[in-house]
Amino acid sequence: MTSIGIPQEADVGQRLVAATPRTVAQLVALGYDVLVESGAGERATFADAAYVDAGAQIVDAARAWGADVVTAVDAPTDAQVALLTRGAMLVALLAPAAKPERVATLAAAGVTALALDAVPRISRAQALDVLSSMSNVAGYRAVIEAADEYGGMFSGQVTAAGKTPPAKVFVIGAGVAGLAAIGTADSLGAQVRAFDVRPEVGEQIESMGAQFVREPLAQQEISADGYAKPLTEAQEAAALDVYAREAAEADIVVTTALVRGFAPTTITAEMVAAMRPGSVIVDLAAPGGGNCELTVPGERVVSPNGVVVLGWTDLAGRMPQHTSQLFGTNVVHLMQLLTPGKDGVLVLDLEDPVQRGMTVASGDEVMWPPPAVAVSAAPAGPAGPSEEELATARAAAAQAAALRKQRRTIGFALAAVLLTLGISFAPTAFLGHFTVFVLAVFVGYYVISNVSHSLHTPLMAQTNAISGIILVGALLQIGSDDLVVTILACVAAAVASINIFGGFLVANRMIRMFRRDA
Ligand SMILES: NC(=O)c1ccc[n+]([C@@H]2O[C@H](COP(=O)([O-])OP(=O)(O)OC[C@H]3O[C@@H](n4cnc5c(N)ncnc54)[C@H](O)[C@@H]3O)[C@@H](O)[C@H]2O)c1
Repeated sequence: MTSIGIPQEADVGQRLVAATPRTVAQLVALGYDVLVESGAGERATFADAAYVDAGAQIVDAARAWGADVVTAVDAPTDAQVALLTRGAMLVALLAPAAKPERVATLAAAGVTALALDAVPRISRAQALDVLSSMSNVAGYRAVIEAADEYGGMFSGQVTAAGKTPPAKVFVIGAGVAGLAAIGTADSLGAQVRAFDVRPEVGEQIESMGAQFVREPLAQQEISADGYAKPLTEAQEAAALDVYAREAAEADIVVTTALVRGFAPTTITAEMVAAMRPGSVIVDLAAPGGGNCELTVPGERVVSPNGVVVLGWTDLAGRMPQHTSQLFGTNVVHLMQLLTPGKDGVLVLDLEDPVQRGMTVASGDEVMWPPPAVAVSAAPAGPAGPSEEELATARAAAAQAAALRKQRRTIGFALAAVLLTLGISFAPTAFLGHFTVFVLAVFVGYYVISNVSHSLHTPLMAQTNAISGIILVGALLQIGSDDLVVTILACVAAAVASINIFGGFLVANRMIRMFRRDA
């Protein structure tokens, strides 16, 4: 039977483990024998006994590294590479671009190496993208670290002892980490503003509860591949103005800017000097040198004017239980891809761009870098239309718009005539009901369209309650002698039922999404 080894990480500062008891059970269900090195999960709060309960065997380091497949978090040390068997598969964070010599050593050892940090960023590969999982946790933890340092509360308070304002948070870069930071700061009650050089992320920023800082001079055109490009000089100058303005107003700055693996400077020493004492900067780009000029990777620095700059490089590892769970689940998704028969038989398909993209060594050969994968956030369309076609299209559109306007005018006129006739012949009581109805439509429209995204769920519950009232009213009227009233009551009952039962179905689906076993 094919075995999967889960070794203990060599670096004592590494608290993550590549498999948790829950993911071990999933690997066992795929038909593998799982060998966990004794103590491998301890730093992430998973005891050996829990792995045994999930179906694993507890073994020593030599047996874990000697398995047919070894999944680890960090790349192996030289001593660990020596324990790998020829023909085995290694799955870990291998940094192939930064460490080509490591890839060469693995190829020479006859190991098939899959780099978890080389997963192509395409939708199909998202389920195995450990970097996204780790950035997501890091964005969350960045805000928690900032809250710990900051001398105030995130949410504004109104108490008998007076008022305190909410914290002002400014997030730079709205990729995976930035969006997670926005969501966390917003849920703690802060006022969040965010900037990204890619204008297309504005909607995502707003849907997470922040205000998108728009600065066309600093923002690029919509990217074809979902990645930012290096800024031109003029864009950089405009972006620096935005950072200076926003940082001076903010209590907390979370900076996550990354351009094709490179961390640009976003917060200069001068900007830090202009911030209020007690403000906090969390620099997520610290592992790559940092976005802030004062950042020291792995250190907490306090500027001369009392601004705290956190350059932690282990943010994801500070939440080892959940990060290991997410990491382990990404590994399970990879193993599912590599085990099409779900029978413990490993099949590496190098024709598949995802598997090829991650494979950095195979058959004694270095396979890095892989051929480019078309990453398309906004796929390039076919060649654009000619001037002549554009002119024809514009003329047709203008004609259609004129026709629509004419139809709308006739429609309004007809409605006005029908309304006047209806009101003139209707019983007096109808006019009162009708006025209330029209007002309710207007008020309802404006109230609902101004409700923030975060309140949509309670709003849905309220509309369900209103539909319940409508249903009761309709049922009371359904036996009326007047046929029109009976028909209207039937229609009202049917429409209200759609909202009520539809609401239950949607709520049920949402609850299932949050279930642990989903
Ligand atoms: N410190 C830690 O422990 C830790 C853990 C995980 C990830 N990270 C780091 O967090 C950073 C963000 O990761 P991610 O996965 O969100 O990356 P990402 O590529 O998804 O996002 C980066 C974002 O920055 C934007 N950007 C680029 N240049 C900019 C500029 N000058 N101004 C404003 N926005 C700009 C990009 O458009 C993109 O939206 C990376 O540097 C990553 O290494 C750190």
